[in-house]
Amino acid sequence: MDVVFAESALDRLGDMRILLAGGAGYIGTHIIVSLCAQGHVPIVVDDLSNSSKVAIERVERIVERPISFHQADLRDTDTLRRLFDQEGPDAVIHLAGLKAVGESVAQPLRYYDTNINATVSLLRVMAEKQVHKLIFSSSATVYGDPESLPLTEDSRVGGGISNPYGWTKFMIEQILRDIAPTDPRWQITLLRYFNPVGAHPSGLIGEDPAGIPNNLMPFIAQVAAGRRDHVNVFGDDYDTADGTGVRDYIHVMDLAEGHVAALNHLTNGVATYNLGTGQGTSVLQLIHAFSAACGAPIPYQITARRPGDVAACYCSPAKATRDLGWQATRTIDDACRDSWNWQSQNPAGYPAA
Ligand SMILES: NC(=O)c1ccc[n+]([C@@H]2O[C@H](COP(=O)([O-])OP(=O)(O)OC[C@H]3O[C@@H](n4cnc5c(N)ncnc54)[C@H](O)[C@@H]3O)[C@@H](O)[C@H]2O)c1
Repeated sequence: MDVVFAESALDRLGDMRILLAGGAGYIGTHIIVSLCAQGHVPIVVDDLSNSSKVAIERVERIVERPISFHQADLRDTDTLRRLFDQEGPDAVIHLAGLKAVGESVAQPLRYYDTNINATVSLLRVMAEKQVHKLIFSSSATVYGDPESLPLTEDSRVGGGISNPYGWTKFMIEQILRDIAPTDPRWQITLLRYFNPVGAHPSGLIGEDPAGIPNNLMPFIAQVAAGRRDHVNVFGDDYDTADGTGVRDYIHVMDLAEGHVAALNHLTNGVATYNLGTGQGTSVLQLIHAFSAACGAPIPYQITARRPGDVAACYCSPAKATRDLGWQATRTIDDACRDSWNWQSQNPAGYPAA
C-alpha cells in the first residue's frame, strides 16, 4: 500500500505525542478530540480499511488544528519503523483491528491475521524504538459468558468466548502480559470497553458502519433515518426486567476521556480497567430512549435469540474511578441525542473522500 508521509503537522505543543493506531475509526476520532483538549499531540496511522479520511478532516474542524495522518497497514513493519522515526511518539493507543463479531466467525483467518499480526508488528517497532507506553483497546467480550455481575477486572476471562474476534482480544491481552516482563520500562494498560455509543455533540463525527450495522445503536439510528424498516430484537425471553438483552452502553466521549485518564496514570507492568457505566440498559429501553431523542417511533420486531448472545453484561467501573479518577458522566439520553444529531446530519455516513 502506498504511504503518504505528511509533514508532521504539529509542533510539540502538549505534554505527549500520542500515536493512535486505527485512529481514523469511530472511537479513535473521538479520542483525538479528548487528547487535543488536554494539550496532547495526536498522530494517526490507519489503513482506512474500515474508516474514511473525511473523518480526520472533520476532527480537524472540531479541534481547529491539523492532525498528522499516515495511511499504512500496521503489518507493514518497515513503514511503521519509518513512521516512528519521523514522528517520535511518546506513547501509543492501539485501536487498529477488525471488530465485526459475525464476520469473524465467517473469516477467522482474516481476523487472526489482522488483529494479531498488526499487534505483533506494532510491539516489535515499539520495542526497537524504545517506546514503552501503550494503551490497548480490549473489550468486554474477553469475559465471555459472565459467571456473575457486575463484571470486575478480576472476573473470569476466556470462559464462553463464542467467536474469533473475542479470542483475538483475549490473545492480545496475553501477548501484552508476556511482553511486559521482558523490559521493566513497559507501561501497558488494557482498557476493556463495554458498549460504546453516541457521538461528538457537534454531529461532525460518529459511528459510520460499512454495510449492515453490527451494533444496536447505529442500527436504531439508521431505522430512525429511514434507511432501514425496523430493528430486530433478538429474543425477549431472557432473564432480564423486560426479557430483552441488557448491556452497559457508554458514551463514546466518556470512553475517549477514559483514555486520557489512563494515559495520565500509566504505571510499570500491565494494568487492566473496565470502561463502562456500571448501568445495564435493555434493548427495548434503548429503542424507547432513541425514539424520544428523534421524536418518532422506532419500529421493531421480536425475533429468535442469536447464538452466542448473553442475557446481560455490565461492569463495575470502580477500579477506573479509584485509580484513574475517571467515571462516565453522560447518560443514555445524551448518547441517543448525540447519535441522532450525527445520523440526521449525515444520513449516509461520511461522504466519499
Ligand atoms: N466499537 C465497539 O463496540 C468496540 C467495543 C469493544 C472494543 N472495541 C475495539 O476498539 C477498537 C476501535 O474500535 P472502533 O469501533 O473505533 O472500530 P473502527 O473499525 O471504527 O476503527 C478501527 C480502525 O482500525 C483500522 N485498521 C484495521 N486494520 C488495520 C491495520 N491492519 N492497520 C492499520 N489500521 C487498521 C480501521 O481502518 C479502522 O479505522 C477496535 O480494536 C475494537 O475491536 C470496539
